[in-house]
Amino acid sequence: MIRNPIIAANWKMNMTPTETEKFFSVFLKELPTSNLRDVVIAPPFVSLAKAADMLMQADSVKLSAQNMSQEASGAFTGEISAAMLLDLGCRYVILGHSERRSLYGEDDVVINKKVHAALAAGLIPILCIGESLEQRDGGQLESVLSTQLEGSLANVSTDAAKGIIIAYEPVWAIGTGRTASPEQAQETQAYVRSVLSRLYGAAASEVIRIQYGGSVKPGNAAELISQPDIDGFLVGGASLDPVSFAEIVRAGCC
Ligand code: PGA
Repeated sequence: MIRNPIIAANWKMNMTPTETEKFFSVFLKELPTSNLRDVVIAPPFVSLAKAADMLMQADSVKLSAQNMSQEASGAFTGEISAAMLLDLGCRYVILGHSERRSLYGEDDVVINKKVHAALAAGLIPILCIGESLEQRDGGQLESVLSTQLEGSLANVSTDAAKGIIIAYEPVWAIGTGRTASPEQAQETQAYVRSVLSRLYGAAASEVIRIQYGGSVKPGNAAELISQPDIDGFLVGGASLDPVSFAEIVRAGCC
């Protein structure tokens, strides 16, 4: 089974619309033109429209949001709906990032509602899961990941699950400069696939793409992507520099 790699940038709370314009004016020149895999950029909400403008001539790069409301519309001050994101040109939405889980109290129940709202609207969720160092050291790695997957994907059909992207991001590797070794990431992602196989069957689990995220850089991308169960990356810090991110896209794609 060949899974097409998907390389995504998570800009977090960085990049004004002006900075977004500058990023794309460099990045689009750096982007490899041949053998391109799926490339996704997740700017903050306020920079999505500028990013969409800049990508008019580059339909190989898709847009993602970093979060959304589980509600469709109404009296939810400060929230953004799936329909709004679609209207801006988003195809993907990152859900359940560890920063949303730890800083904004999002649990698997809320994340599951968001997954259903995204799917109902036609957005592809990039569903983040991952363990803390304490949980890994305490022998809870597998139970944490299976609980997150079962909770976040509750009542998601096999057909819908096949299109979802899973991002495995060990919390201890996010923004710390400490990457999981390729072997550690492979072993854990093979486990994630085994949980997907239990939930959806072996055939479906073979088509679901699982990204690795956590201190991915140009220097470690090629070795990570060579692992059989690593189907792409979710990149934070290194995606803010257009040259670095283009290098990661190249490493992940050709
Ligand atoms: P990082 O972030 O690449 O800066 O570690 C990854 C993420 O949080 O998605």
